[in-house]
Amino acid sequence: KMNTFISTLMKKMTLEEKLGQLNLPGAGDITTGQASNSDIAKKIKEGKVGGLFNIKSVAKIRDVQKVAVEQSRLKIPMIFGMDVIHGYQTVFPIPLGLSCTWDMQLIEQSARIAAIEASADGINWTFSPMVDIARDPRWGRVSEGNGEDAYLGSQIAKAMVHGYQGNDLSKNNTIMACVKHYALYGAAEAGRDYNTTDMSRVRMYNEYFPPYKAAVDAGVGSVMASFNEVDGVPATANKWLMTEVLRNQWKFGGFIVTDYTGINEMVDHGLGDLQTVSGRALAAGIDMDMVGEGFLTTLAKSLKEGKVTQAQIDAACRRILEAKYKLGLFDDPYRYCDEKRAATEIFTDAHRKIARNTAAQSFVLLKNSNNILPLKKAGTVALIGPLADARENMTGTWSVAADNTKSTTLLAGIKEVAGANAKILYAKGSNLDADSVLETNSTLFGKSLNRDRRPAAEILQEALAIANQSDVIVAALGESAEMSGEASSRTNIEIPAIQKELLAALLKTGKPVVLVLFTGRPLALKWEQENVPSILNVWFGGSEAGSAIADVLFGDANPSGKLSTTFPQNVGQVPLFYNHKNTGRPLEQGKWFSKFRSNYLDVSNDPLYPFGFGLSYTNFTYSDITLSSTSLKGAQTLKASVTVTNAGQVTGKEVVQLYIRDIVGTSTRPIKELKGFQKIELRAGESRTVTFNITPEDLKFYNYDLKYDWEAGDFTIMIGGNSRDVKGANVKWMK
Ligand code: IFM
Repeated sequence: KMNTFISTLMKKMTLEEKLGQLNLPGAGDITTGQASNSDIAKKIKEGKVGGLFNIKSVAKIRDVQKVAVEQSRLKIPMIFGMDVIHGYQTVFPIPLGLSCTWDMQLIEQSARIAAIEASADGINWTFSPMVDIARDPRWGRVSEGNGEDAYLGSQIAKAMVHGYQGNDLSKNNTIMACVKHYALYGAAEAGRDYNTTDMSRVRMYNEYFPPYKAAVDAGVGSVMASFNEVDGVPATANKWLMTEVLRNQWKFGGFIVTDYTGINEMVDHGLGDLQTVSGRALAAGIDMDMVGEGFLTTLAKSLKEGKVTQAQIDAACRRILEAKYKLGLFDDPYRYCDEKRAATEIFTDAHRKIARNTAAQSFVLLKNSNNILPLKKAGTVALIGPLADARENMTGTWSVAADNTKSTTLLAGIKEVAGANAKILYAKGSNLDADSVLETNSTLFGKSLNRDRRPAAEILQEALAIANQSDVIVAALGESAEMSGEASSRTNIEIPAIQKELLAALLKTGKPVVLVLFTGRPLALKWEQENVPSILNVWFGGSEAGSAIADVLFGDANPSGKLSTTFPQNVGQVPLFYNHKNTGRPLEQGKWFSKFRSNYLDVSNDPLYPFGFGLSYTNFTYSDITLSSTSLKGAQTLKASVTVTNAGQVTGKEVVQLYIRDIVGTSTRPIKELKGFQKIELRAGESRTVTFNITPEDLKFYNYDLKYDWEAGDFTIMIGGNSRDVKGANVKWMK
């Protein structure tokens, strides 16, 4: 039915109208409320716009959709996209934080709620999930992804796509997902945004491609091309990537959109003029051109000159129309424009409650000496730091639909949760940073650093005065929201110096100090680990972050987040990740340096906090592994079990992680790879046996010839609460 409908429609379309469907301008002047009189409206009437992005609210979207379906010749409805990345108005933790929940139901639910709210506000397409594997915390966009691991990243990609799209895209509360940035954007050299990437195909297939593929397998409706080059050809013009891998190998049937001016930027990449690069993008398999209008302005000429074909244009146009059809827009172009829904389904109490619980589960307790945490709801708490009362910095990067005036600050959260018996004192203590570039970057995105113009010494003295009156100091420090995210790369990944000075001064008071760390990336925290008794990493927790942090600080919630990305000791170790290769000269057991071995003179190879790591207010013990067999053959299933015991005093959640090492292969294999995990909850004293079913599917990898298969031999099965502290057992698995 869809094919016939679209074929009939396409027969009526002129070349210009077909090219119009491939055009995705930003909403620009429409967002100011001038919809029907704007320049874009003129283009819409002429059939030159396929969709718009960064426009929200039912009234505005209805207004502009009306232009398309009432005033353009063929009345084709537009698609409306937006960066709904970690929630809409109810903002969830940044994706890196969400990934640390290791809870696929929670993650899917966050996407579901984002879809409900966005679709209630007129939007039907989101530029999410972002699934770029990233191993370099200098890159600011680590905050937008799910960390360093292909397996965990793939599970999350799937959960997000299901959450956004549901089972039926034509429902008015589901939206089309767009997996991005295909491909390898997270491998930007030196962590500098938009930089070149270069890696072997074996690494692409084994370590970087799986999350994109998982999204495709989950039925994602669209894919966004990345800015970077792959094998010397920008992704946007890379036919191997777009057509051979994505469409032919993975059978992707949706449409591909560029990133913002991705086509035009290929002129600067050095691929030729706008006509040339637009032709190459189309030929590579790109369907929709975001912002740059290279398709709109050059493809007719290229067609005339025989540089692109009518079939290529038709294929792209058809895919855009198919997406609109699947969204139900041909049945009802106003399907997502329902004022009643907008009034009742956005930022609801129910959504906020879920966001608060989700945020609490995303926090990672990195250190807790002498069980300083949880705090008592009594005595005097000195809350100090530039992030303690920083409303604009709670939701983090890419929270474009957030109303930051509604975000809960940590100060407000603590006052709410601590109750009447606790006295809360507050002082800023220092500015976020002394560096004006960072300040400009933050204000650029409308997130002010709220700089205090008084002399630094005066700001500090005020804080020390309240610190000295307190029983415990909570120091809210770290990065501002816009110090991570797009175009926010850093070479120094420590807490900004001015805040470290504040922290040192607070420690000198001799009072117990809890560091509540806001960050969008793994930071280098060696000094903090050595000197601060308790460290709770809270990322950017979203609109309910302040209350959620307070829930954890005062023990109403027990932290259970586990790192989805390694924290290095210092920036010189970067890229540092758990599933590295052994090399021909690995370190000897128990040593951190030996001459002529693969190591550094000045720091061990160890991370500060390994992948999978995170503490709790209770502690879990693991039994040895029990295996159903140590010798397997063919498609048998191996059952590997451990008994996990909550050996502490309170109920807690633990993520039980399964890693496998393929000891000998025709290619070198990582020292361990995550192959499964289960998040369990245990009451104090409770034990549970956790079993993983392992089959040869879990042993497969892409070999030197890019063949996906497993190889017979010896394997080590490892289970534990993080990637470092595992129990191990060996098996032999023959074909
Ligand atoms: O979706 C984003 C992308 O991640 C970065 N460039 C702009 C796009 C649209 O806003």
